[in-house]
Amino acid sequence: MSKYKNFSAHLTVLLFLLQLLQQNSWAEIEPDQGETLDGASTLAFVFDVTGSMYDDLVQVIEGASKILETSLSRPKKPLYNFALVPFHDPEIGPVTITTDPETFKHELKELYVQGGGDCPEMSVGAIKIALEISLPGSFIYVFTDARSKDYQLANDVLQLIQQKQSQVVFVLTGDCDDRSHVGYKIYEEIASTSSGQVFHLDKKQVNEVLKWVEEAVQASKVHLVSTDHLNGALQTWEIPFDPSLREVTVSLSGPSPDIELYDPLGKQMKPETGLNELLNIFNSAKVLNIKEPVPGIWKIKTSSNGRHSVRITGVSTIDFRAGFSNQPTLDFSKTSSRPIQGIPMYVLLNTTGLQHPARIDHLELLTTSGLLLQTIPIKYYPNRIPYEIWNVTEFIPPKEQFFLRITGYDKDGYLFKRASSVSFSNIVPGPPKVSMPKVTPGYYLQPGRIPCYVESLIPVSVHFRRNGMRLGIEQQFQYV
Ligand SMILES: *[C@@H]1O[C@H](CO)[C@@H](O)[C@H](O)[C@H]1NC(C)=O
Ligand SMILES: *[C@@H]1O[C@H](CO)[C@@H](O)[C@H](O)[C@H]1NC(C)=O
Repeated sequence: MSKYKNFSAHLTVLLFLLQLLQQNSWAEIEPDQGETLDGASTLAFVFDVTGSMYDDLVQVIEGASKILETSLSRPKKPLYNFALVPFHDPEIGPVTITTDPETFKHELKELYVQGGGDCPEMSVGAIKIALEISLPGSFIYVFTDARSKDYQLANDVLQLIQQKQSQVVFVLTGDCDDRSHVGYKIYEEIASTSSGQVFHLDKKQVNEVLKWVEEAVQASKVHLVSTDHLNGALQTWEIPFDPSLREVTVSLSGPSPDIELYDPLGKQMKPETGLNELLNIFNSAKVLNIKEPVPGIWKIKTSSNGRHSVRITGVSTIDFRAGFSNQPTLDFSKTSSRPIQGIPMYVLLNTTGLQHPARIDHLELLTTSGLLLQTIPIKYYPNRIPYEIWNVTEFIPPKEQFFLRITGYDKDGYLFKRASSVSFSNIVPGPPKVSMPKVTPGYYLQPGRIPCYVESLIPVSVHFRRNGMRLGIEQQFQYV
């Protein structure tokens, strides 16, 4: 660096903190969406085409056609395009993504099952591709009868889910007889992170699930409860239904599933009073739905006698997205979809469907089993612009995965709650990356500049040394 003896008089450090946090990580990954795409998403089928899947394939081809017809006949079209990602061992593809339902149906019919292969399959890689090619907020259904072999891709998939806020649902007609294997458990983790679910079925029940998929693929789908439980439990959820909730669906995947719904007057809902059963698979899964529920505090009882998951979703315009930043900001594009571990993080919320004088009262952090980790009040700034942006004070993100839940009052004073569509996990910052040019010319008796580049997600301090001696002063860098 310094060939000149007297060089060192003035050191000017050019330091570029390339702050990854400042970049909108969604923008890089999301496909370009025109205005017409507002809220529209992708329906993706990730399908195992090994020989043993023949029966399932026949049912999925039929079922998919029906799902397309239902979704196309809805006034508010939730689906913009369709994707198909077949996989077997070791190949994935050919991948189809199309806006034309006829092409999609044709491609589905062209699928054919291919020879055996050993039990685990390349399913996680196929899910990753499906997430990559899908729009944000998409619906991904995975049909397989085997656990995964490529579970080392799990982290990439979990990150993509957090960026894209898409949901992954598994329809399993087999699991290689080992549900404690990491290749199976990763399915549960993917489902949990994305508020999806794992359903275990007999081959002949695939059709049943597809009827429910028709209902599940909805525009303006919002989340009220997403919890996973290792053991059997009977639980009572008390949830405020605000007038914007046009329907509510409760689904439980686990042994001996049971669900009861009670309206705000305490009356149990029955088929005669509007309770619809969307799915009932003996000893494995139950999904119930009600349309146009009366506003008020509803009571929902769920029970299962083993490992199970509960999802309560609704259809509503009131929803939110969260972004994280290491400094206060009111610009959503300056936030990231994941917090950084170990340093204070500010949360910025972008809500939809709230009009003056609606407000959010507080934000809660919950574990994936629904335990409350932290409550953060949200201060109300009545004159802020834009109205849908809410800044929340800093907090240290918990080490474990967590969901966010907001509680507030709509413009008429009705209480509402919404949970995030995905759970969040921290980015664990690595050591800063430092680089500088091998040679920087300096001139006799002239001040010199030595460029030095530091890349870091967390604040850093920088100083120069030569032969063990510190040169100049130490500089602190928080943010750019
Ligand atoms: C908030 O989200 C909505 C819907 O995704 C979007 O149209 C809007 O631009 C966002 N607002 C801001 C300030 O980022
Ligand atoms: C939130 O934004 C307001 C301005 O609208 C500002 O006065 C306040 O300090 C911010 N609070 C946080 C925690 O960022």
